[in-house]
Amino acid sequence: MEKLDPWASLDIKDYDKLMKEFGIESFKPLLNKFPKQNFYFTRGIIFGHKDFQRILDAIKNKKEFVMMTGLMPSGKFHFGHKLVADQMIYYQELGAECYIAVADIESYLTRGISLEEAKKIAIDEYLINYIALGLKPKNTKFYFQSNGSKAYMNLSKLISNKTTFNEVSAIFGDISPAKLVSALTQVADILHPQLKEHGGPKPVVVPVGADQLPHINFTRDIAYKMSREYGFILPSATFNMFIPGLQGGKMSSSNPLSYIALTDSPKEVETKIKKYAFSGGQATIEEHRKKGGSPDIDISYQYLRMFFEPDDRKLKKIYDDYKSGKLLTGELKQILIDKVNLFLKEHQKKRELAKKDIDKFMFKE
Ligand code: TRP
Repeated sequence: MEKLDPWASLDIKDYDKLMKEFGIESFKPLLNKFPKQNFYFTRGIIFGHKDFQRILDAIKNKKEFVMMTGLMPSGKFHFGHKLVADQMIYYQELGAECYIAVADIESYLTRGISLEEAKKIAIDEYLINYIALGLKPKNTKFYFQSNGSKAYMNLSKLISNKTTFNEVSAIFGDISPAKLVSALTQVADILHPQLKEHGGPKPVVVPVGADQLPHINFTRDIAYKMSREYGFILPSATFNMFIPGLQGGKMSSSNPLSYIALTDSPKEVETKIKKYAFSGGQATIEEHRKKGGSPDIDISYQYLRMFFEPDDRKLKKIYDDYKSGKLLTGELKQILIDKVNLFLKEHQKKRELAKKDIDKFMFKE
C-alpha cells in the first residue's frame, strides 16, 4: 500500500485507486437517503466516506451528532477552503454541533508559523469567511489547539499509549517527533467531542480533503482501542477532492495566480481567469469550431462544475456546447468571471458585517 503524506502538498490523480487502497466507500448507494441534496456529493467532488451511514441515521432519527474539522492557518482563504466551510455549514443546518479546530500547534510544529501569526490568520482569513458564508455561533465550538478545554488537552497526551512506533511508521512513514505530536493532537481534536466532559459518545463526522486520510485511519484505530474504556464510537469521515489550481496544476497558497481568493477584486478575478485559467480549447477559433474543446481538462468548466453552476442541466449544456465547439473559450471564461464576481460582491459585503460577530465565536471554557 502506498503512503500518503498529509504534510506534503499532494496532487492526487487517481481517486478510484485511492478509494480501493484506503477502504473508502462510495456515496452512490447512499445518495437517495440524503435529507438535503448538495452537488458536492452528487457530482463526486466529495468522492467517498467512512461510516457515513451513521451520520445519516442520526439526522433521520433526530439524534445529536457532531461535525468536527480543523484548519491549518496559512495564507489566503480560497475556494479550496470554501469547499470545507460549505460542508461545516451544511451539517450545522442539519442540526450538528460544530467543533472547529484551529491547528495552530500543527502549523507551528510543521510550518514554523508562530502562534500569534496563526491566530491572526485564523480570524482574519478563516473565521470571517466562515461567518460570511453562513456559519452561526450557536452550537459552534471554534477553538485553538493551543487553547482547548482541559479534557481535550489531557486527551492529546493520554492517547499516546494507544499506539506504537510501528503503527505510526506504517501509517505516516518515518516522521519527526513534531509531526507525531501534530498527529496525536489531531486525534484528540477528533475524539474529544465524545468525552464525558463534552457530553459523551456520539456520532461525529469529519469532512476533510483526501490528504487527511492517514490521520483519519490513525484516529479510528486509536478510537477502537479506547472504545471499551471511553465508549468512543468510531468517527465517520468524508473526503473531498482537491480543487485544481487555476493554471491546471496544484493550488498553492504561495502562488496567488494558482487560486481565486474570496477577497480578490473583480479586476483580479478577470485577469486571473482570462490570462491564467488553463483552457481546454483549441489554438484558433476556426479549429475550436471544427474540433471542439475539452471541458474535462478546462479549468473554467471545472470551477463552474465545482462551485458556480448548481443547475445540472445548465452545466450539461455548457459541457456539450464547449465540447462541440459551439461555445468558445473566451465565452466560457466570461460565464465564469461573471458568476465569480457576482458571488464575491455579495460575499465581500457579508465579510464586512461578519467582523462584529467574531467575539461570539471565541471559545471560553
Ligand atoms: N491537519 C489538518 C490540515 O492540515 C488540520 C486539522 C487539525 C484537522 N485538526 C484536525 C482536520 C481535525 C480535521 C480534523 O488541514
